[in-house]
Amino acid sequence: MTNEKEVRQALQGVIHPSLKKSLVDLGMIRDIIILGQSVELTLALKAVQGPLRNRFVSAIEKILKELPGIAQVSVKITTLNQEEIEQLFPTIPLKGIEKVRHFYAVASGKGGVGKTTVAVNLALAFARNGFRTGLLDADVYGPSVPLMLALPNSLEEKEGMILPREKFGLRVVSLGMTAGETDAFIWRGPLVSKMIRHLLERVNWGDLDYLVIDLPPGTGDPSITIAQSIPQASILIVTTPQEISLIDVRRSITLFQKHNLHIAGLVENMSSFRCSHSAQPIEIFGHGGGEKLSRESGLPLLAQIPFDLELGRSGDNGMPLLVSAPDSETSRIFLKVASELAAQTAEVAR
Ligand SMILES: Nc1ncnc2c1ncn2[C@@H]1O[C@H](COP(=O)(O)OP(=O)(O)OP(=O)(O)O)[C@@H](O)[C@H]1O
Ligand SMILES: [Mg+2]
Repeated sequence: MTNEKEVRQALQGVIHPSLKKSLVDLGMIRDIIILGQSVELTLALKAVQGPLRNRFVSAIEKILKELPGIAQVSVKITTLNQEEIEQLFPTIPLKGIEKVRHFYAVASGKGGVGKTTVAVNLALAFARNGFRTGLLDADVYGPSVPLMLALPNSLEEKEGMILPREKFGLRVVSLGMTAGETDAFIWRGPLVSKMIRHLLERVNWGDLDYLVIDLPPGTGDPSITIAQSIPQASILIVTTPQEISLIDVRRSITLFQKHNLHIAGLVENMSSFRCSHSAQPIEIFGHGGGEKLSRESGLPLLAQIPFDLELGRSGDNGMPLLVSAPDSETSRIFLKVASELAAQTAEVAR
């Protein structure tokens, strides 16, 4: 007597020609019922009349009829849902980012932990290490990159494509540049997703080694849009040492894992405060959060960035630390992270 496990095992032999995995592993074989000598199952396809339908059905029938005691095979067809289609069949690369080699999206579960500070200084560190680098500010709730880099809130177009702003050796585009200074950001989910895709498709990013993306806090639509539009992106998770920040961070790690995105590692920000009156760093925001999260999640802790008044001040002045004090201790941390990430992606500056 053949059982369901054996049916699944046998069907490992039916491989999807473009996805190069078995229909079983792709989750396209469902609801297997074995009754006496007959097997009934459902095959989930992109479209009911998909071009591979007959080929798959014949292959399934042939393989199953070879199993002991099976005489009849009946295959029902259903369709994959939208989310499954997007996961299994990543869209063709969006035109504007065709020539971008690597993507790092800076995320966190919580607001105000220093994502933008990390995104801006990391992008500058890549550029300083000799890489062609872009910065996309996808923070729909409060795009602050124009402020941190003292850039105008507008964009120019050429031949139907949007041109990024050039500043400090970076190519920069912010959602804030698309709406004008005074517009309130009241965009709803679908509109946000559309706008982010628009910026990936219509901005002429050109040849880039790295595109750093500053995400808004949380696990909402912008993060999901990035995950679906750039499945090859790596995520950097910013956290502070506090326990309360970790709860939200765990949630965002789960979201990116669910979408099969690669998480490059954790950056603990505001780790400690160095005060001129004391030789010992003071841990104002708690202790060891990054290390704890790294242990439990298995993700590497890439850096611990101290609370540095100059880092905060320089960002607020439109002259980030990597530009105003590139040799400072904190700047060197960013340069080191950029070098380590470049080593991971085996990039050599040209
Ligand atoms: N290590 C640090 N030392 C001192 N100040 C910092 C540090 N990191 C960030 N700041 C300051 O903290 C504030 C919040 O930082 P930032 O805007 O980068 O956070 P964010 O996570 O992007 O916030 P939001 O969720 O609002 O986008 C800014 O004024 C910034 O200059
Ligand atoms: Mg921000």
